[in-house]
This record gives sequence, structure tokens and C-alpha cells, in this order.
Amino acid sequence: MIRPADRNDETAIARLVAELASRATTEDLRTRFIRVLEHPEHRVWVFERAGSVAGFVHAFIRPALEKPLEVVVQSIVTDGTVRKEGIGRKLMEEVERWAADSGYTSVALHTRNAAAFYRRLGYDEIAAPSFMRKVLR
Ligand SMILES: CC(C)(COP(=O)(O)OP(=O)(O)OC[C@H]1O[C@@H](n2cnc3c(N)ncnc32)[C@H](O)[C@@H]1OP(=O)(O)O)[C@@H](O)C(=O)NCCC(=O)NCCS
Repeated sequence: MIRPADRNDETAIARLVAELASRATTEDLRTRFIRVLEHPEHRVWVFERAGSVAGFVHAFIRPALEKPLEVVVQSIVTDGTVRKEGIGRKLMEEVERWAADSGYTSVALHTRNAAAFYRRLGYDEIAAPSFMRKVLR
């Protein structure tokens, strides 16, 4: 079953996020999770099975000056023990439903390791940009 995440999902989502970013502390995650949940243009859905959360997806509406508004998938993780069972696909379909129902015509994302998964779902590679960052201290 897919449902919107709520504050009670923090521990389960922290466990899944740790698979992506092992350096995040629990405290960091709590602050970010609440901020995302409260943001009107962000959504987090979880996939729940037998009372336990087996995956989540976080998406948001990205405003841009040079192109129309678009839905962006920020992160998606399914539990390592239940991959390739269709959960990731169901979560992405939820995002696409939300985007279409909200009047957006595309969903975009950056990926490093999961291009094959997104290709199976009909996503095309449109660019290979460098993702750059400067750490400010
Ligand atoms: C990427 C991820 C979310 C996919 O979740 P999943 O639950 O395994 O995905 P699904 O079972 O719904 O897969 C959908 C399709 O993609 C295929 N697929 C999934 N992962 C794949 C992979 N790594 N390589 C090739 N194909 C893959 C599945 O076989 C399935 O194919 P089908 O169309 O024949 O049924 C999951 O592997 C994951 O959490 N990875 C670690 C985190 C990550 O990299 N997230 C993405 C970047 S934020």
C-alpha cells in the first residue's frame, strides 16, 4: 500500500536514507524530514507492507525561469531485502499520478547509479551534466 508519509515514519525513512547517505545523523534527518513534510510543494510517499515501511519516494515541484514547472524526484529508496519486486515502480507511478493530476507534463531526476531502473520505467537520458558543489565554511 502506498500512502503519504507522516512524522511517525521518521525512523523507517532514516533507515532507508542511510542506504543513500550514511553520513547523515538522526538529528539532521529529523529536521530535514519535518521541513520537507511541511513544504506545500514537496511530497513523500511510503510503501507499507505488513505494517512495515519498505520504501519511500520524495518529489517536489521545481520552479525555473528557463523552462516550465516540472516535478522532480529528489530521492527514492526501497529496502535492500525487497528490491526488484515492483515497489520502486509503484512509488514512481504515484509521483507520476500526482504530477499529471496537478497539471505537470513531465517528471525529471538526476541519477548516478539507478539509470537502468528509470529506463525500465520509460525515462530517457537527456543530458549528462556535472553536479558541482562548493562547500562554504
Ligand atoms: C533504484 C531502486 C529504488 C529500485 O527499486 P526496486 O523496488 O528494486 O524497483 P522495481 O522492482 O520496481 O523495478 C522496476 C523495474 O526496474 C528494474 N530494475 C530495478 N533496479 C534495477 C537495476 N539496478 N538494474 C537494472 N534494472 C533494474 C526491475 O527489474 C524492474 O524491471 P521490469 O520492468 O522488468 O519489472 C532501488 O534499487 C534502490 O533503492 N536503490 C538504492 C537507492 C538508489 O539508488 N536510489 C535511486 C537514486 S536516488
